[in-house]
Amino acid sequence: MELKDKILKNHDRQIKLSYTLAKVGYDTAIGKLLRLRAYYGDALIMLKAWKDFLYTRKENIGDKYFAVDHAIMHTSHTQVQELMQTEPQIRGNDLGIIRILAPSYLLNNPLSLGTNGNEHTGVRAIFSQVLPDPSAQIDILGRLVEQSLSKAANQGKLHIGEDLPSMMLDILHQLILQISLTEAEIKASRTYIQGLPLASIPNFISKYLLAFKTAPNIRHRQHLINKYKQSPQWAFILETGTKHGLNEHQIANSVFDMIHIAGTAGTSALLGSVIGVLCLDNTLKNHVLSEINTVWNSQETLNESAIEQSHLMNQVILETARLYPPVRFVSQLTTNSGEVEIGGTKCPFQKGTRLLGSIFTANRDANRYQNPDSFDVTRDFSDILSWNGYGHERACPGRNLSVGLIKVFCLYLFKNYKWQSFTEVKWDFAKVTAVTPNDLVLQGFAKQT
Ligand code: HEM
Repeated sequence: MELKDKILKNHDRQIKLSYTLAKVGYDTAIGKLLRLRAYYGDALIMLKAWKDFLYTRKENIGDKYFAVDHAIMHTSHTQVQELMQTEPQIRGNDLGIIRILAPSYLLNNPLSLGTNGNEHTGVRAIFSQVLPDPSAQIDILGRLVEQSLSKAANQGKLHIGEDLPSMMLDILHQLILQISLTEAEIKASRTYIQGLPLASIPNFISKYLLAFKTAPNIRHRQHLINKYKQSPQWAFILETGTKHGLNEHQIANSVFDMIHIAGTAGTSALLGSVIGVLCLDNTLKNHVLSEINTVWNSQETLNESAIEQSHLMNQVILETARLYPPVRFVSQLTTNSGEVEIGGTKCPFQKGTRLLGSIFTANRDANRYQNPDSFDVTRDFSDILSWNGYGHERACPGRNLSVGLIKVFCLYLFKNYKWQSFTEVKWDFAKVTAVTPNDLVLQGFAKQT
């Protein structure tokens, strides 16, 4: 069967499922089983053709359709923005479209995204305490970035998919917790992040049948959680968490996820895309370089004004985040049941149904952005959705840090380093890996003399 037919046929089943669930119940054993079947049915297609999946349904059904575990997918800018601003927002333990079905992979602690009410307020208080303002920590950030880049220069290359996540793990642990990870710990953390899809398999299979893969990752998580307790920051973090009724286990695990999943995976993907964009567009790269030369004389220590004055770089980062958003989906749960119109058919939906927002399609919505698929740094980014919007309880708490970190990284990279050539710059819109040019390598990577 052709891909398009498969995608649409699965959707016909989802429409029928809405009526079946109305009869058998959404959260009954049979309801759960039917939704799980739908989840894996769609997930198998999305794993290899996620962009085709989204657009085939959008073009043939409409801006709203069913997907994965009978969630209602929202794809336009207006719809996704509206979803993001819903307060209070009720969440399940989901990472975008990924349902965490094996809590053992996360040491039985929910993602902060999956918490609600006081628990969520507590973890957010910890995040805002530990995430530094990049302008206030500019000298430390510069030193950490320079250390990472000089290691890449020693190996003579900078590999986007391999090196950037390791660098982020190193930098974020030092910056946030003031602890250093060994090379072996960084490698194990990378394997942990790559293994996250293993958390989407039912617990018994993930924990026992796939133990040869999951057990070392889970052990590593436990090991780092213990190590976090040695951090000079730990007493403050613990104090804040305890004030909000969180225990040590919840606090340390939330910090682990913040650094590994949100911080490392998100920032290294966006940084990789920014480097890719600048490799591809020489004119833009030269303009960025000339801005760097104006805002920073590399003989002097980097100061916060260099960051504040990097206006073009700021626009490049935001436009890259629009076209290549590291986080593609946001997820929440309905608090009531009702009826939803999908492709002209009125379908029932039940309380607890997932509402998914597709950031990728929203960011390329022609009703919001002119020529949405072209790169344009002159756009108005005031309502950009890539960091989950602004000014509400679920917006990304790491936005300023990630943008500041990428700016500092680019300042050092383009001012202090050079490379002889680079390999093909390609974003994979088929396989459901990070949206970043993972295979890009800057070859002959060395320090400028
Ligand atoms: C230093 C880097 C970063 C850190 C420490 C960080 C941290 C976090 C944390 C802890 C959350 C969960 C908030 C909650 O539970 O309420 C979050 C959510 C989010 N972050 Fe970030 N983040 C970083 C970088 C990024 C980047 C580069 C992007 C994309 C451009 C991004 C996009 C998002 C989005 C879309 C969400 C909402 C996800 C959802 O609601 O399902 N983050 N971030």
